[in-house]
Parts: sequence; structure tokens; C-alpha cells
Amino acid sequence: GKSPMIAPSILSADFANLAAEAAAVAKDGSTRADWLHVDVMDGHFVPNLTLGLPIVESILKSTDIPIDCHLMIEDPARWAPPYAEAGAYNVTFHAEATNDPVPVARDIRKAGAKAGLSLKPGTPLEPYLEILKSFDTLLIMSVEPGFGGQSFIPEVLEKARAIRKVIDSGDLTLLVEIDGGINADTIEQAAEAGIDCFVAGSAVYGKDDPGAAVAALRAQAAA
Ligand code: DX5
Ligand code: ZN
Repeated sequence: GKSPMIAPSILSADFANLAAEAAAVAKDGSTRADWLHVDVMDGHFVPNLTLGLPIVESILKSTDIPIDCHLMIEDPARWAPPYAEAGAYNVTFHAEATNDPVPVARDIRKAGAKAGLSLKPGTPLEPYLEILKSFDTLLIMSVEPGFGGQSFIPEVLEKARAIRKVIDSGDLTLLVEIDGGINADTIEQAAEAGIDCFVAGSAVYGKDDPGAAVAALRAQAAA
């Protein structure tokens, strides 16, 4: 199949040195990340606060790695499209944050980005199957959103297997991404379940050599 994608999460990076932290996974070759994952938290949808649009704009200027915005925020209809307008490659928001996800996806795509839908660990996939054709990415959360360094919840892989079946039957084109607790101990089971793109925060930026961690995780996912 395709080469597995690795998306380091800068949530585990040094926020005062984001350009250097991005550069650590942006050298050409096997240590290069596919996407850089940026966790936007508003202190309401999740009990944590990180960064917003001005910092994402600065990150976009500092690196040529495609930026993957994971919006853990309320009111995505209002706040998500500006991240696409700013030049993010993929803009993902949470299914639990809105009653009407499709127009949000349409606005993100209109602004020139890929649109992603994210599901918390306890949110079922089935009610969203019908609308996934409006999306480019499905982000399956394998921890409760809000914090890095939590333990992987293997039960969410049921959703990965289910959506992989739908995609393989040819009924849907969708990139399947997983986020939370991905590391050397968990990435293989996630790869077996059909994940395309692996977010890893502490397992990349918690290491002395983030680039080497990217290469090692990708090799493990491909094995
Ligand atoms: C958590 C964030 C994740 C986080 C993952 O809400 O969405 O992207 O950075 O961190 P790790 O890989 O350490 O679980
Ligand atoms: Zn995330």
C-alpha cells in the first residue's frame, strides 16, 4: 500500500521555539514529517488552551511542511474557515462541536484546504457515515482530546476497521488519521487497523532526535 504518513504534534514541542521544532522534522529524507499537526484548543471544548490563528500563521511562514490543524474548539462554523484561508493544508474540527458539520466542511474546502472530521473516543462512526463524502480526512481520537502524553485507547480501532472497509469497497475516498497515544508500542496495531496518517506528539517531540523518531515510527507502521 501507500507509505504511512507521520504527523508530529507540536503540542509536545517547545512553544517558544516553534520554527526550530518544525525544522527538526522538515529535512529531506526519511526523517521528514508528512504533515505538522497543530492542536488548537479554546479552553471550552476541551479543558486546555493552546494557540490560535496568529500563531498558526507564523508557523505557516516558518515551514514548508503541510500544516494539519486540529481544532478542539466550539463554534467551528465561525472559527474553522480562517485557518484554511491562512493556508493550512488540512483543517479538522470535531463532530461533537456542531450540529451541522457539512456546511463547515464546505467552507473549509472553499477556502482551499482539505476538510477533516474528528471523533472523540466515545463518539460512534455510524451516524456520520452518510456525510463523510463531504470530508477529505477522518481523525479518530485514541485519547480524550485536551492533553498530550495519555494512554492509547485500543477500542477506537473498531472505527478504523469499519471505515477502512467502506473505503476499500470503493464507496468513499478518505484519509484516515489517528491521534493520541501513538508510539512504538501502539503504532503497529493502528497500522493493521487501516490508518493512513499517524499523529504523534510525545513519541516525536519527547525524544532527543525528533526526526529519527519520525523515521522509526514510519518504518514500524509500514512493517
Ligand atoms: C490531544 C492532541 C494530540 C496530542 C497527542 O488532544 O489532539 O494531538 O498532541 O499527543 P500524544 O501523541 O503524546 O498522545
Ligand atoms: Zn491533535
